[in-house]
Amino acid sequence: MTPLAELLADRIRRFGPLTFADYMRECLYHPVQGYYSKAESKRFADYYTSVDVHPVFGRLLARQFVEMWENLGRPAELMLVEAGAGVGRCAVHVLDFCEAQLPAFYDALRYVAVERSASRREQATIRSERHAATGRFAASAEIPARIPVGCFFSNELVDALPVHRVTVDGSALKEILVALREENFVDVLAPLSTCAISEYFAVQGIALGEGQHAEAGLEACDWISEIGRRLERGYVLTIDYGHPAADLFDDHHMRGTLLAYQNHRASEDFYAAPGEQDLTAHVNFTALEAWGKRAGLETAGFTSQTAFLLALGQENEFADLYDAGQTEADRTRARLQLKTLIHPEGMGERFQVLIQQKGVTVPQLTGLAGISRRA
Ligand SMILES: C[S@@+](CC[C@H](N)C(=O)[O-])C[C@H]1O[C@@H](n2cnc3c(N)ncnc32)[C@H](O)[C@@H]1O
Repeated sequence: MTPLAELLADRIRRFGPLTFADYMRECLYHPVQGYYSKAESKRFADYYTSVDVHPVFGRLLARQFVEMWENLGRPAELMLVEAGAGVGRCAVHVLDFCEAQLPAFYDALRYVAVERSASRREQATIRSERHAATGRFAASAEIPARIPVGCFFSNELVDALPVHRVTVDGSALKEILVALREENFVDVLAPLSTCAISEYFAVQGIALGEGQHAEAGLEACDWISEIGRRLERGYVLTIDYGHPAADLFDDHHMRGTLLAYQNHRASEDFYAAPGEQDLTAHVNFTALEAWGKRAGLETAGFTSQTAFLLALGQENEFADLYDAGQTEADRTRARLQLKTLIHPEGMGERFQVLIQQKGVTVPQLTGLAGISRRA
């Protein structure tokens, strides 16, 4: 048993089975033993994100943010809030690029890197020291209480938010809780722990089949609702792997989408090593749209990462890919890294981009100029 498994087992012995959302929250975010609370040393052994592939990901995002700033009337201050900012790699890519290439926008930028893990926040602050010194960067554990005018974005955050697990048993929606049997964690079926779960499926018109397993991402709904309330005017850009609800809960996903990752291997052994493996569930973009709408966020568009990055890069033939003084070998390597980001069989079609807006009347954004569909 891992140290966290001991703690969780003790909690179950004393208070009874846990919801999967509580189990997942502890596995990922326990202040000492949680997967994301630990130093990043093991990180690349388990997964990497688009941010890690090449700085061009952040640079093309910056191109989209500057256009958003222009659409918002070039305010003197724009709060650019990155949620789940990790160790601040994307922040540095965006800020360095804006400083060098988009100086007027850089002057207006107030970048807030929101990160739940204290150790990652600390690393982000060290990494962004130069920008922090001029007041353009700050790390925070919380989303700012008010974002008067801003852009809010996240990459691979929502898939790491805790989910409840459910199944249909004898035509009734039941919750899958985490119990203890002979010192092992096991699934047990129970009545729903909250009626918010049945509401989650009803609002989206989803009826699960007998025996189907699925996740209810209630925390993602709370998260987007909170952003909608705090953002007074601006955009919300969410990049993650996932699907619209009609695909997410279809009969190709009878076992749900929850996966555990360790050493780049995915498994359904969610109880194998609490605190030492990543747990993720595909993002339900329809739910982000629906709960966002309730909080005043209108959908601007939904597209693939391929279409989004191609639209932003094509304008200058991907000149942002290169750095001064690079050799031809460096440039070839950079082109291959870009291919990983945009190729449909790489990250391009697995990752989706949802852009929502509030109080904005200006039309289309360049990143949505390709095929845009509804979540
Ligand atoms: C998969 S990592 C992605 C990191 C980074 N965005 C990237 O693309 O490389 C998810 C990050 O989100 C953080 N996180 C999870 N829930 C959060 C929340 N509610 N608020 C802020 N950060 C959160 C985790 O600690 C972790 O650093």
